[in-house]
Amino acid sequence: MGKDVIVACDFASAKQTFEFLDKFTGRKPFVKIGMELFYAEGPEIVRQIKARGHKIFLDLKLHDIPNTVKKAMAVLSSLDVDITNLHAAGTTPMMQGALEGLTRPDGSRPLLIAVTQLTSTDQETMERDILIKEPIDQVVMHYAKTAKNAGLDGIVCSPLEAGKVHETCGSKFLTITPGVRFADGDVGDQKRVMTPAQAKQIGSDYIVVGRPITAAADPVAAYERCVAEFCD
Ligand code: C5P
Repeated sequence: MGKDVIVACDFASAKQTFEFLDKFTGRKPFVKIGMELFYAEGPEIVRQIKARGHKIFLDLKLHDIPNTVKKAMAVLSSLDVDITNLHAAGTTPMMQGALEGLTRPDGSRPLLIAVTQLTSTDQETMERDILIKEPIDQVVMHYAKTAKNAGLDGIVCSPLEAGKVHETCGSKFLTITPGVRFADGDVGDQKRVMTPAQAKQIGSDYIVVGRPITAAADPVAAYERCVAEFCD
């Protein structure tokens, strides 16, 4: 899989999701399904979107004991998703268990991506609540290296960090980057943003774009604009 635009389908129901996806009569976007939609509609929503010909990033951010994550990942793998993820904070044994669970009998598996520190966690909350005292950018890079050593395929990070992650973990280690906005668009609640063209320049492998596409007057045009800026 090469560079692609992943559309965050942050909808509360299958109905809203299909109303949105029905607009795409040409190129079928790579779709991110998050916790809200998955918990509302269950695994069937994954099967239905897959059956419509979309690739799927299932963003459930697993974090539990290795045996539980291994078994849960086996279920997600059988749903035939293309990318899924977990928290690197679950540590190496959990990440290795996840990879084992994901690997199908024929040796194939979805790509497995780690979440490092959530962007909602800042230095102060990290020090206070989880007693991690190192600078947060070093913590993120350490988690990236740990994920790579465990055999994972990449991390979710800010497009601003993508270059550093590739320097540290190699160009093949994937960076999936949210926080993307058009130069002339609303930033909304995202703080550190980049345009699709800038994300391409800095080396992001996949951009995750939600509201600039889902809330656009013409979502298909907004998606095609992202693709033109990022992929072409
Ligand atoms: O609407 P917007 O483009 O901000 O959506 C970005 C998507 O990426 C959302 O689904 C959000 O939950 C997700 N995300 C993020 N920042 C992270 C991790 C995930 O914005 N650090």
